[in-house]
Amino acid sequence: MKILLILVSFALVHANGQELAEFRLASYYTNNMVLQMEPKSAVIWGYGQPDAEAVISYESNRLSTTIDANGEWSITLPPHPPSESIDFAVQQISSFGMVTIPLKAAFGDVWVCSGQSNMAMSLNLIYNASEEINKTIANYQHFRLRKVSRNTSLDVELDEATFNYDWTAPEEERVPNFSALCILFAERLSDAVNAAFPIGLIDATWPGTRIEAWSSSRVLEYCNTPLATNETNRNADSALWNAMIAPLTRTSVKGAIWLQGEQNIDYNEDYYACHILTLVNDWKRTFFQGELAGENGVAFPFGVVQNGPVWINYNYKWGDIRWHQTVDLGVLPNALLPDAFTAASYDLTDHLSPTGSIHPRDKQTVADRLANAARRLIYNENLSLYGPVPVSVDQLAADSRTITYDRNVKLVGAAGFAFQLPDGNYELSDVIASTANSVTVAVNSTAVQLLYAFSSYICEYKQCAVYSDDFENLPAQAWKWDL
Ligand SMILES: *[C@@H]1O[C@H](CO)[C@@H](O)[C@H](O)[C@H]1NC(C)=O
Ligand SMILES: *[C@@H]1O[C@H](CO)[C@@H](O)[C@H](O)[C@H]1NC(C)=O
Ligand SMILES: *[C@@H]1O[C@H](CO)[C@@H](O)[C@H](O)[C@H]1NC(C)=O
Ligand SMILES: *[C@@H]1O[C@H](CO)[C@@H](O)[C@H](O)[C@H]1NC(C)=O
Ligand SMILES: *[C@@H]1O[C@H](CO)[C@@H](O)[C@H](O)[C@H]1NC(C)=O
Ligand SMILES: *[C@@H]1O[C@H](CO)[C@@H](O)[C@H](O)[C@H]1NC(C)=O
Ligand SMILES: *[C@@H]1O[C@H](CO)[C@@H](O)[C@H](O)[C@H]1NC(C)=O
Repeated sequence: MKILLILVSFALVHANGQELAEFRLASYYTNNMVLQMEPKSAVIWGYGQPDAEAVISYESNRLSTTIDANGEWSITLPPHPPSESIDFAVQQISSFGMVTIPLKAAFGDVWVCSGQSNMAMSLNLIYNASEEINKTIANYQHFRLRKVSRNTSLDVELDEATFNYDWTAPEEERVPNFSALCILFAERLSDAVNAAFPIGLIDATWPGTRIEAWSSSRVLEYCNTPLATNETNRNADSALWNAMIAPLTRTSVKGAIWLQGEQNIDYNEDYYACHILTLVNDWKRTFFQGELAGENGVAFPFGVVQNGPVWINYNYKWGDIRWHQTVDLGVLPNALLPDAFTAASYDLTDHLSPTGSIHPRDKQTVADRLANAARRLIYNENLSLYGPVPVSVDQLAADSRTITYDRNVKLVGAAGFAFQLPDGNYELSDVIASTANSVTVAVNSTAVQLLYAFSSYICEYKQCAVYSDDFENLPAQAWKWDL
């Protein structure tokens, strides 16, 4: 029968002089991959001969569809519980014959890790690099890694992304060059559930990139963003969304983590709050079933690391971006972004980082803070979503203010508070008293604004003024008060 079909197929090809379209999976799908587990459905799609049948068989399932006139096919799988690798047979069946592609895929959570250099910063560049690399390879063989090639596309969303390599378990060749924060975050989440399921990690990062490049045209239209008319590179509007993120959205993922903001200092800074709000909602709406609620009612958890420190003296625009990264509300999640979570990193000062003080090597602490927030949001664990947040600011004397926090705090160092004078200049503010949950700081009576953790450089490593007085030791959230 098979031989007959093949003969028939050759006859037909020769008869009308056309080659058969190649039957294949989209570039996203390779052996060793992780498909998103329940409650979301995974989608498998690819290309083939128009009008032929595409069939996916696995376990007791047989799902099929007709390949469309453009030679594309897409099959949505029913929600699947977590599982180790399963054998799939992906087939094209037509009067020309049958083509079979074997695919091995597991079901678990898939996270996209995106942003600029601090997210791109690889495991081999952080503190304890060798130890962390060995630990990842030894203990996290249920992870699968994939790196999206750095690429741009000016006015179209590409159907397919290009990748640096196929899905792979953690191994010597790939781990050292993979996003450190992406891996460390996932390790902490995995530990929290006792490695209950596989985790797929997609590193889609590019140093020196702006939020506008990672935003779809929908986001930029909604925010009325000034056009980046001169840009034809990685910072062209929507260039990285089009080439590196949009092609991932045809199937489902768990969520995303994001570390980006430095490149927007002095560039559309005032648009950042709108950009992050709209980008998070746009990614959520665009990824397949991004709006389908999972654990604890959270549909598309999106972790935002607020801008870290850099050793340039007292540039308060760094704090403006930290503030905008929370949509100007100071914390995530909030009423505008109920599925988002955040981590502060402004106190992880690293003057001697070989790649520059803008790239602190302590990504472990960022991962601890970000993963704890995720564990609270997604698994409702008894951990904090973020550090101490002020609940009131009182003027008990002409030249001071008393800030009361939502929990007990401890004073670690003296640095962090500043005030702005009517002429626009900033001055550092001294801590003059404290109680278990409040801090009193000196403020010039003419000051117009009081700020915490707003400057580029704030304090030495983990020595800022205000931390939570508990085992998490979380730095107080960056804040500002109009006086
Ligand atoms: C990590 O493993 C490599 C190769 O096995 C070894 O040479 C190195 O010493 C290990 N690093 C640490 C910190 O144990
Ligand atoms: C960028 O994308 C285009 C279109 O998919 C592809 O042909 C090209 O190989 C990609 N470049 C890189 C560096 O991945
Ligand atoms: C590491 O990753 C970067 C960015 O994807 C890539 O350009 C570079 O070639 C990689 N280096 C190695 C040694 O794989
Ligand atoms: C674009 O280039 C022009 C001319 O060099 C310059 O005046 C303008 O500021 C540039 N715009 C942006 C957004 O960089
Ligand atoms: C690096 O390893 C040392 C020794 O285990 C540990 O004390 C330190 O906290 C680690 N650094 C980070 C940033 O995790
Ligand atoms: C949460 O943990 C804290 C200690 O970190 C404890 O005091 C508190 O009682 C716990 N709350 C619940 C509901 O378990
Ligand atoms: C407050 O600022 C004014 C300048 O605006 C200055 O003359 C004055 O000395 C300052 N007072 C204190 C207590 O710093």
